[in-house]
Order: sequence, then C-alpha cells, then structure tokens
Amino acid sequence: MKGIIIYGTVYGSTKRYAQKLSQLTGWEVMSYDRVKSLSGYDAVVHLGGLYAGGIKGLKTTVKNLPDTAKLIVVTVGLADPDSPENCRNLQTALERQLPENILERTQSFHLRGAIDYEKLHLSHKMMMALLIRSIKAKPSEQWSDEDRTIVQTYNQKVDFVNFEGLRVITQAMRQIASRKPM
Ligand SMILES: Cc1cc2nc3c(=O)[nH]c(=O)nc-3n(C[C@H](O)[C@H](O)[C@H](O)COP(=O)(O)O)c2cc1C
Repeated sequence: MKGIIIYGTVYGSTKRYAQKLSQLTGWEVMSYDRVKSLSGYDAVVHLGGLYAGGIKGLKTTVKNLPDTAKLIVVTVGLADPDSPENCRNLQTALERQLPENILERTQSFHLRGAIDYEKLHLSHKMMMALLIRSIKAKPSEQWSDEDRTIVQTYNQKVDFVNFEGLRVITQAMRQIASRKPM
C-alpha cells in the first residue's frame, strides 16, 4: 500500500496538521505544488486551507489522482465544524469541488485552523474587510455560525489548531492501509 499526505497552505496551519499526521502514520508528506505525479499511489490524503469555500490545492490533487486511489479530504478553516450548519456547508462546498466518480471513493473531515490578521497578505486583508462589511450589512439575527466566527475573530490573532482532531483521520488511514497489502 502506497499512501501520501498532500497539503495546500498559505499561512502554515494546514502544514502543521499535515506534518503531525505524517509523524503519527509514517506516510510521506508534501506540498501540493511539489507533487509531480501520483501514479502508483493507492491512497491520498489532501489537507487544504479554506479560502472563500475553496480547498487550497485540491484541484491539482484531483487532476493527478490515479483512477482507483482512495481519497481523504481534510479542510482547515476558521468555521467550527462542530456546528451542524457549518458542517453541512463544508460538505456542500466539497461536493461542488469533486467530480462524482471521485466523490464515491472519498472520505472527508474538517478541522479548525488559525489566523493572524497582522500577517495577512494585502489582498486577503481586503477580502476579509469586504466580507465583514457584507456580514454587518445584515441584521445579526440573520448571521450564519460562520459569519459570527468571522466577526468574533476579525483583526485578531487566533489559533484553533488541535491535533486531537487527527485521531479519526489516522483511524481512517489505518483502515485503508489494512485493506491493501503493504
Ligand atoms: C481570504 C480568506 C478567506 C477565508 N475563507 C474561509 C472560508 O471560506 N471558510 C473558513 O472556514 N475559513 C476561511 N478562512 C480562514 C482560513 O481557512 C484559516 O485561516 C486557515 O487556517 C488557513 O489555512 P493556512 O494557515 O494553512 O493557510 C479564510 C481566510 C482568509 C484570509
């Protein structure tokens, strides 16, 4: 069984999860933009930071994914996946980003990341300012759980990274590995 962990990050929180996952499982780990080919891999775990609902690097991984390889997608974002509303939205966003033939061999998990507004690139600062403006234009009773998190963390430094969340993912990886000869 040949498995790999791929990550797409801008500010590093997804990389922290990916490296820890590699330590826990012994699977090799690589940034999505360094992967040349996935031919010969039976299983791929893709961790991607969430940017306006998009999962960083996932398009590239999907393009390279071998026809029979299993895929595990892990999103890393600010929204709390313990909220059923957030979880549904994350699932819908994921389904939009994966073709049907890949979705049927995909498992997904959602983790929380980190943000430090002082370190954001200018374009990201502007995106978040626009987002805040559009949230605040709505009455607060109409805010989604994700809107509330964005308002609460705006212009701050917060770190929700928690390696406990990797436990279920390592279990899923071990299950895949045990079904295929090493
Ligand atoms: C421009 C921008 C857009 C974002 N969009 C989302 C989003 O749609 N959903 C979410 O949960 N978090 C969102 N976030 C928060 C990031 O997903 C979070 O900071 C994550 O930890 C970033 O991963 P990275 O540190 O690996 O780059 C956004 C952050 C920025 C700066």
